[in-house]
Amino acid sequence: MTIPSSNPLTPAPPLPSHQLSVLIGEEELKRRIEELAQEISADLREKDPVIVCVLKGAFVFVADLIRKLDLPVTTEFIRVSSYGNNVVTSGEVKLELDLANSVAGRHLVLVEDIVDTGLTLQYLRANLQARGPASIRVCALLHKPDNNVKLSTIDYVGFNIPSKFVVGYGLDYQGYYRNLPYIAQIQDLQ
Ligand code: IMP
Repeated sequence: MTIPSSNPLTPAPPLPSHQLSVLIGEEELKRRIEELAQEISADLREKDPVIVCVLKGAFVFVADLIRKLDLPVTTEFIRVSSYGNNVVTSGEVKLELDLANSVAGRHLVLVEDIVDTGLTLQYLRANLQARGPASIRVCALLHKPDNNVKLSTIDYVGFNIPSKFVVGYGLDYQGYYRNLPYIAQIQDLQ
């Protein structure tokens, strides 16, 4: 008997095939990340900082950023969700994966892929603050200033972008496109 590779009653959903237009190319990303790394290295020299990567979106950015830092660092990971599979925030942030180690007394650099409404950042800052760190700095690759209703302060911003949904370089749409080496807009979603 041949076993079908997938249940014929529940066909696999079609793979995404959106029209993408590049907003920030690979070279531009690389250059800006080097600049951010220089700033962070200068500000945190001798401070033994902890880089806190916000999963999943920031993992590509963090991987490139830490390799350009000119100082010793440790890394921690935290995962929160607020978007689910949507392009607008649900308005509720949930902690899905916590840091593995205490960060009490440490200098933290919280690294986000993108700050949109600022809700996630507001939640994370309060959550980390409660753990008694020596300081918290925030680094976001992308920022949509027109949407930042929480008026979150960000110490290091890679790029300010318009209020459009973007993917690539770690950012997803329904789980896809994180592997693109550039930041793109999805034409048919805008
Ligand atoms: P905020 O809480 O509205 O600031 O949203 C922050 C989170 O929403 C980010 O960490 C992303 O995971 C997600 N997000 C916001 N805008 C976009 C986008 O344009 N593309 C992909 N994800 C986004």
